[in-house]
Amino acid sequence: MAKMAVPRRKFEMATTIAIGGKGGSGKTTLAAMIVRLLLSREGKETILAVDADPNSCLASMLGVQPVGTIADIREDARAKSPGSAGGDRLRSLEYNIQQAITEADGFDLLVMGRPEGPGCYCAVNNMLRKFLDQLSSRYQFVIIDNEAGMEHLSRRTTNNVDILCIVAEPTPLGVLTAGRIFELAKKLPLSVKEIGVIWNNNRVDVACSDIDKFEIPQLGCVPFDKAVFDALMKGKTVFDLEDNTPALLAVSGILERRLNAEAE
Ligand SMILES: Nc1ncnc2c1ncn2[C@@H]1O[C@H](COP(=O)(O)OP(=O)(O)OP(=O)(O)O)[C@@H](O)[C@H]1O
Ligand SMILES: [Mg+2]
Repeated sequence: MAKMAVPRRKFEMATTIAIGGKGGSGKTTLAAMIVRLLLSREGKETILAVDADPNSCLASMLGVQPVGTIADIREDARAKSPGSAGGDRLRSLEYNIQQAITEADGFDLLVMGRPEGPGCYCAVNNMLRKFLDQLSSRYQFVIIDNEAGMEHLSRRTTNNVDILCIVAEPTPLGVLTAGRIFELAKKLPLSVKEIGVIWNNNRVDVACSDIDKFEIPQLGCVPFDKAVFDALMKGKTVFDLEDNTPALLAVSGILERRLNAEAE
């Protein structure tokens, strides 16, 4: 049963992994797998999972019932005092964000919720970004599942990303969209240490080596995995998957390679 989070000790800097890409490419599935894999690492990592897709699915893939959303807090803060960034307003916003964090089994979850309406949200959004950056420093890992496209990432969540994973299928269309998203991501007002593509849903007839000629950094390949597809179709979570299911093993390999490279 989900319950409220308590503040954690501050870490120097969280490793932030953001997942982006085309609609339906497998972003949420891979983000949820990364959370599961980090949880199973030795040393009990502290993890914040961020569901930044208005059509929130990460929570259910992780088997969590969220206690609130940032969208509700933002709406409330704007309605009460549209342009203000006074001390009381800041304190109340910080308190409300804390209340919106769901504590799950071994990790915390923050759900961004629907995008803002037509009014002016600049003051509230600026405060939110500041608090979310502060919040990140309490965790060792922050995993952000984004909605399709990249435009929303810097506006709605964070300015600092360590690894930006673009998820795409290894098809001509997938390669085209991965290239576009890669170019767009480079222009965003974001500090990104590393960016690359994860080719997901790879089938035996499309060898990953075929993609080597494309000039996009590659993080790795994840096979189409019927067990994953069937489990999620039945409304199961990533924690119901077998440890040795091929997609999970592939994501594990990619994650370990990246984290080892980061540590060097
Ligand atoms: N490697 C895989 N093997 C088998 N099925 C997969 C794999 N990756 C994703 N899927 C399936 O593909 C579907 C879409 O995945 P998912 O919801 O993660 O995509 P998404 O990019 O988050 O979509 P959206 O853009 O709608 O948020 C789901 O049914 C999921 O189970
Ligand atoms: Mg998704």
